Amino acid sequence: MEAEEIKEQKEYIKKVYELNKNKNLKYYILTMGCKLNENDSEKLVGMLEKMGYEESKDMNTADLYLINTCCIRENAEEKVFGKLGEFKKIKEHKDIIIALGGCMMQEKHITDKIKKSYPFVDVVFGTHTIHKFPEDLYKAIISKNKINDILDIDGKVYEGLPIKRSDKKQASVTIMYGCNNFCTYCIVPYVRGRERSRKPEDILSEIEGLAKEGYKEITLLGQNVNSYNGGDGYKFSNLLRDVDKIQGIEIIRFISPHPKDFTDDVIEAIRDSKKISRLIHIPLQSGSTKVLKEMNRKYTKEQFLNLTDRIKAKIPDVVFSTDIIVGFPGETEEDFEDTLDVVKKVNFEQIFMFIYSRRVGTLADKMENQIPEEIKHKRFNRLKALFEENIEKNNEKYVGTTQKILVEGYSKNNTEMLTGRTDTNKVVVFEGKKDLIGKIINIKIVSEHKWYLKGKV
Ligand code: 5AD
Ligand code: SF4
Repeated sequence: MEAEEIKEQKEYIKKVYELNKNKNLKYYILTMGCKLNENDSEKLVGMLEKMGYEESKDMNTADLYLINTCCIRENAEEKVFGKLGEFKKIKEHKDIIIALGGCMMQEKHITDKIKKSYPFVDVVFGTHTIHKFPEDLYKAIISKNKINDILDIDGKVYEGLPIKRSDKKQASVTIMYGCNNFCTYCIVPYVRGRERSRKPEDILSEIEGLAKEGYKEITLLGQNVNSYNGGDGYKFSNLLRDVDKIQGIEIIRFISPHPKDFTDDVIEAIRDSKKISRLIHIPLQSGSTKVLKEMNRKYTKEQFLNLTDRIKAKIPDVVFSTDIIVGFPGETEEDFEDTLDVVKKVNFEQIFMFIYSRRVGTLADKMENQIPEEIKHKRFNRLKALFEENIEKNNEKYVGTTQKILVEGYSKNNTEMLTGRTDTNKVVVFEGKKDLIGKIINIKIVSEHKWYLKGKV
């Protein structure tokens, strides 16, 4: 349902459009961080284009500069300040608008720093006020004042914002906002607030609309998707089963679930579906029960292994991807070896590896036994080496099999060849005609080449 607030913002969209008409204005957008942020940016771009801006890929030729920020790790934050320096130079000789939005803006020490050292920023908005971007922008243009629009309380769930999707075949659909878990290393609960789920009917009608437009692949997004609560006992597994019924959608993915909430009804909904990907992302974070406890993850090493075994027993062709943090405070050599042990046992198809990054305001930041950078990096490299050792062996199991593939386009390294991904996210390169692009086809895998597989139509 479309709220009054959104109707009001649509009026502001019209007002900005009137101001911008015939001016041929351009925007330059930079999106940091996760898929949730990318999905937010698709909404920001949807609003921008309705306000009369066109995209500029060239940083020097825009009139409006927008960064949708991320604060999950320090390097994402540093990049934003670097970019602001570049924008400042442009602003010295051109009348441009600079806007910053998203997670970083929910942190007080960051907005203080922007006020003090980056006074040329025009609009600042947080994660709960994205929908108000048209109003903030309008006010900034009209008054030439600085606009600060940040709410500390949890925002509502708004439906009906314009959206411009970045891809024609694969779409992300946010099903819930926020997180209630407070893992001790993580800033997300502080910047995105408590869990709020969208209504099942709103999610399903969005996906039905996407299917009608020709979308084949859907990724359901949330900070903790399996604590989705659609009301009246409608859970994540109910949503999976309903999305599965939507005609035209052929591949369904979801990120990220929390191991502690991965219940049997979810496993069974995956098992019973021909569309839900057999690559399941389950964030491990650490393989040490002691570190997991310090992280407030609410499961042990054994419970994690038991979960992946339970899933394998019900879904024999399943593979897993995961997130791992190395160098959490107090992580000993023995703890780290527990992580390596789980990696060996589960045989992950893909691992997103992160070096622990201290985040202001989190409990882990206050822990005294922080690990020296050098040790963190050494452990990171050891984990990476272990994973890479296994890639070729893991790939062998594909050779000779037939795989369902969504053809993405020409291969970057060889423009004679087409490329796509298996359901399990492996890159496959093969010969084929242009009209296969965007289709889901069967490919026989003939050989493996570590970073990709070769196939035949
Ligand atoms: N340092 C390093 N990695 C982190 N992540 C979350 N917070 C931090 C942090 N402070 C990682 C987790 C999470 C992923 C999205 O980012 O692995 O699953
Ligand atoms: Fe962060 Fe943990 Fe919530 Fe994921 S589940 S967003 S890691 S607090």
